[in-house]
Formats: sequence, structure tokens, C-alpha cells
Amino acid sequence: MYTHLQLRDSTRPPVTLTTLARMKEEGERIACLTCYDASFAVLVDEADADVVLVGDSLGMVIQGHDTTVPVTMDHVVYHCRAVARGLNRPFLMADLPFMSYPSKEQALANSVRLMQEGGAKMVKLESGAGQAQIVEFLASHDIAVCAHLGLKPQSVHKSGGFRVQGREGDAGERMLRDAQQLEAAGADMLLLECIPTDLGRMITAAAHVPVIGIGAGPHTDGQILVLYDVLDITTGRKPRFVRNFMVDAGTNLQALKNFVAAVKKQEYPATEHSF
Ligand code: KIV
Repeated sequence: MYTHLQLRDSTRPPVTLTTLARMKEEGERIACLTCYDASFAVLVDEADADVVLVGDSLGMVIQGHDTTVPVTMDHVVYHCRAVARGLNRPFLMADLPFMSYPSKEQALANSVRLMQEGGAKMVKLESGAGQAQIVEFLASHDIAVCAHLGLKPQSVHKSGGFRVQGREGDAGERMLRDAQQLEAAGADMLLLECIPTDLGRMITAAAHVPVIGIGAGPHTDGQILVLYDVLDITTGRKPRFVRNFMVDAGTNLQALKNFVAAVKKQEYPATEHSF
């Protein structure tokens, strides 16, 4: 799939963890989008997104559920395989869905499925300190891992809903500690969802790996949005951090290019998208 692009003279070599580490070091923002099928994957690639996530948000935007909880491994593998067929340059990451990583062994077996059957290069799991051993186990098997902190949609029934995290009491300090513990365990990337801007800035400054934000303010190393939010396909009430990039775009491809440009120029997210 990527083989022809591994050539040294390629003008668009595939993004790797090395590329992303360099971008963090040089202060170039990392533009990430979710994607669920091959046709959109071709557009996301052409728009020059750096990272693509086959997110379990597919349960909501593709399957019509209220949460990501009903999403299974088979669902993510199916969509990941389709997305992988459409991609050349972006680094492909896939979500380990709800209850696919209750033990180290299950996390490993399911990560292998995402990589071997789905074509993913990195797996993402919703994490706190409780998942550090799982991250360590995956890392010890040379699996690239992204640890997702802050609002964890797989936990909404336990946490009480889709709400900004890290605001009350010492929750922010605990999240910072968790992030550091997960990085020490071997996480290659952190993803922060729906947290205050200052906390996003602190965790990013403390991290040696790239930190991607969604509703985590403008100071993270990169930004991710759900594709259907960028393209204004999602109906109903939108989260504060969403910006409709179809405005003034004309085509889906132009909207995606506008998203990537806004992230690179640090025009998105603005204060009105942050907490
Ligand atoms: O599933 C998903 O799309 C995600 C993003 C919201 C980051 O995890």
C-alpha cells in the first residue's frame, strides 16, 4: 500500500512517528482528521492531513448510535481496512473500541487485528493511570500507542455525560500525572479531549511525545476533528470546539484543505472553540 512511497525521492513520503516528533520539535502543527471510508480517505490524503484516525466515533456518525459504546472490533477493522485503501501519506491510527482492552492480552490481540487486518500503524485507547500497564505491554511488543485522556466517550455512562474534564478539584493535576505516567509507560502520542486550555498547554509542555487536542485549546502540538463535523454533515447541537469548514469552501476537498491550513497557521482553534 505504502511501498511505492517509501522511495527516497518521493515528494510525499508517508508520515511516520519520526515525522511527527520532528513536527513537535519544530513547532509545526499536526493536522489530524477522523475518517471511515476509502472515498473520504482519498480526499483527506489529498488535503494533506498528517494523521488519520478511524475513530469509534463511527458508532455515532456512521451507525447512528448516541454513544461509541456499541462499536465492536469487527466494525473498526472493517472501516480501517477501507480507509487504509484510500491513503498514501497520512499516518493511520485506529481506535481500540469499548471493552477491547480489559486485559494486556486482549489489548495485544486486538491491536494486532487493527494492524494486520485493518492496516493501522498506531492504536489509540482511552486511558488513565489504570491503563499504564496495558500501554507498557503494547509498547514492549513494538506497537505504536496513542493514549486518549480527558473526556473519554467510552466512559460516558460512568462519568455522567459528555462534559469538559479536568476542571474540578485536583482533576487537572491528576490528568497531568496520568499523562506523564502513560508517556513513561511507552505511549508515543497523547490525545486530549475537552479540557481547559491551560491544562492542554501544561500537558503539552510537559510531554516529549506529540500531543493532539480536540477541545483542548490552541497550545497542543496538533488538532483533530471528526470529519463529519468539519464538513457540516453532523446534525443537531455541535460541541463548542467544532468549526464548520464548509463555509466558503464550495467542495469537500476545499473544506478539508481549509481545515489543514487553519491548523497549520494556528487560526484554529480560536478562543471561541476552547474551554
Ligand atoms: O473516535 C473518535 O473520533 C475520537 C476523536 C474524537 C478524537 O476519538
